[in-house]
Amino acid sequence: MLSTLAIAHYRSLHDLVVPMGRLNLVTGANGSGKSNLYRALRLLAETAQGGVVPALAREGGLRSTLWAGPEELSARMQRGEVPVQGAARQKAVSLRLGFAGDEFGYAIDLGLPPPSLSAFSLDPEIKREAIWSGPFLRASNLLVDRRGASARVRDGRGWRVVAEHLNAYESLYGQIADPVGAPEVLSLRETIRGWRFYDHFRADGDSPARLPQLGTRTPVLSHDGRDLAAAWQTIVEIGDPQALHAAVTDAFPGARVDVVGADGRFSLEFSQHGLLRPLSAAELSDGTLRYLLWIAALHTPRPPPLMVLNEPETSLHPDLLPALARLIAHAARRTQVWVVSHATRLIAALEQEPGCNTLRLEKAMSRTTLAGQGLLDAPAWHWPER
Ligand SMILES: Nc1ncnc2c1ncn2[C@@H]1O[C@H](COP(=O)(O)OP(=O)(O)OP(=O)(O)O)[C@@H](O)[C@H]1O
Ligand SMILES: [Mg+2]
Repeated sequence: MLSTLAIAHYRSLHDLVVPMGRLNLVTGANGSGKSNLYRALRLLAETAQGGVVPALAREGGLRSTLWAGPEELSARMQRGEVPVQGAARQKAVSLRLGFAGDEFGYAIDLGLPPPSLSAFSLDPEIKREAIWSGPFLRASNLLVDRRGASARVRDGRGWRVVAEHLNAYESLYGQIADPVGAPEVLSLRETIRGWRFYDHFRADGDSPARLPQLGTRTPVLSHDGRDLAAAWQTIVEIGDPQALHAAVTDAFPGARVDVVGADGRFSLEFSQHGLLRPLSAAELSDGTLRYLLWIAALHTPRPPPLMVLNEPETSLHPDLLPALARLIAHAARRTQVWVVSHATRLIAALEQEPGCNTLRLEKAMSRTTLAGQGLLDAPAWHWPER
């Protein structure tokens, strides 16, 4: 489980250290930084897939993703007595992302390459990476240490250099994940690769979830939900069918969902009171289909280490939101959950759940801050120095 998430100089997240619990609810007004926080988590996940630099490029490169404010905000600028102005940059460009969990912590620091003739001269470079044991980095708990092209791992009382020609655009995870030489790297990589993000399920008329699909065992629902029927049947066979059924009746009293198959193609049938025949997925309303997708995603028989749900309320009627909150809380018993939402009823219902960690984002001087977090309340955190 993650205990801390830290971000510096990424968009409006100028310097944010967030404490995490089992069930995390991110809320805040429009423009407060919810999506930025979600994107930052996705970027962290990309480090383990070898895609952090391309992902930054897709967002417009370091120039666009970097905090757009001045390096230093004077007290007079903060009071509005003088306009906010930047001075010549004193420190190197540095976008930093990190987290700490039960066992290990990780931080990555991206910057600009030294001037060169390369056509990729605007590609960000990985300047530093560190893996440590425990809740925050100290000199004594550092385990893997990357500086530019070289990396070393702790070896007894000393250090062993494991690479001297690392690619500047690839993280440690793609280059030194070696079960013998650097087992921490491998273990963290597998954990991060397990994080699951659900953004927007497609529920429109042409959504693949509405069509019969080839059914194979599917412990993890795909991002667009195309394998809904197969995922449903997998939960029935190797997951928790009682909980699945209870989730359906909680949201749609008296209804039942069955999976039918012909020629290896699976489809869903939705039976409800008052109809002579069950409805196929093609006939369901967008909201009903989307809700069934959430039920399948959240009852996965293979719970990930972290499940991130971005605005799950989309296209659901407010009356369904208390049931959605119960569904999410049920999932949070088996996996760590991160929910971004601005639906008042979902927020109110989730906040009733014991242990809900509400992260209310605010913006002050264009910087995202955590409501109620004073300087001393933030979890301890140290970035690796360049
Ligand atoms: N490079 C940057 N530097 C500073 N601020 C930025 C940068 N890029 C974007 N922002 C600002 O970050 C703010 C938060 O954006 P974000 O998309 O996270 O908001 P949100 O909380 O998801 O809002 P909504 O509810 O409208 O989706 C926006 O006001 C945006 O202008
Ligand atoms: Mg947003």
